[in-house]
Amino acid sequence: TSAKPIRHLVSISELSHTELHSLVNRAAHYKSLVKSNTLPPDNLADALKTQTVGLLFSKRSTRTRISSEAAVNYFGGHPLFLGSQDIQLGVNESFYDSIKVISSMTGAIFARVNSHDEIQQLVKHSSVPVINSLCDTYHPLQAICDMLTIKEQFNGDVKGKKLTWVGDANNVINDLAVAAAQFGMNVSVAIPQGYKFDEQVAAVATKVASEQGCKFEVVHDPLVAVKDANIVVTDTFVSMGEESQTKQKLETFKGFQVSKELIEQGQVAKDWRFMHCLPRHEYEVSDEIFYGENSVVFEEAENRLYAAIAVLEALVVNKGKFL
Ligand code: CP
Ligand code: NVA
Repeated sequence: TSAKPIRHLVSISELSHTELHSLVNRAAHYKSLVKSNTLPPDNLADALKTQTVGLLFSKRSTRTRISSEAAVNYFGGHPLFLGSQDIQLGVNESFYDSIKVISSMTGAIFARVNSHDEIQQLVKHSSVPVINSLCDTYHPLQAICDMLTIKEQFNGDVKGKKLTWVGDANNVINDLAVAAAQFGMNVSVAIPQGYKFDEQVAAVATKVASEQGCKFEVVHDPLVAVKDANIVVTDTFVSMGEESQTKQKLETFKGFQVSKELIEQGQVAKDWRFMHCLPRHEYEVSDEIFYGENSVVFEEAENRLYAAIAVLEALVVNKGKFL
């Protein structure tokens, strides 16, 4: 009999409805333990004892690095940060050789890479679970965190609520759109005219939305998208790796800033929230909104920790078994 295939986390699309809900529930469970200073049960506190978990990061990170290191520590493991300036990868060593070596000495790999192709190579050649910690196409840990945040804000009553994205067609919304649809939320995405939403992701989001009795749409007018929105989300217009396009993109995204005017003119729902994965610039959201009373950005940032713990539990501690 052949061994059970390793479960990785590449994108939200590959999680079943039940698996995604399980991860969000487990994240909430761990949040309540951490917040009440309740230690994890002994078997979990030592679950990764003697194990090292690699953090292969070729891009900057604040939240993902802290949350993944802290999550490994939570289960008694040792997180090992492998930044692109420190290891041989890319200079003296190929990606393939690096993957073989890193996975031979670790229990799992959190990987923040450039292209989605690199995540696929990791998944293909790694002998341990790979957790996509952002590539140019997906950011699943963020989406799990965001669903926890949304559930908290609406006391679990999220079905039928409207999530609006105003911004780039990027890695963050690619996973968030599918995740929100899995929770029965209507998803409206506003991207500039001429920009294309990833077709594969759109197909999955549309299918999931029809299964869950909600709607997924892509529009080009932020005012149309924010109408009746319960949650308005944005992200940088210039993702890491796109720095050379900054000038042109900021020009294209004129009118896409989440501002008081957009919120008022667009007539969002009365009880609305603003979210952003961070890091943030003023061009995509004004200070007034970002630091305003409807913003939950710092609760959202903290929730990254509980998302990382939940994913580590399912993929590494429980070896692919979702509770
Ligand atoms: N939201 C997020 O992934 O932040 P970092 O880039 O700081 O990890
Ligand atoms: N879309 C952004 C997210 C950063 C967390 C990027 O890829 O840079």
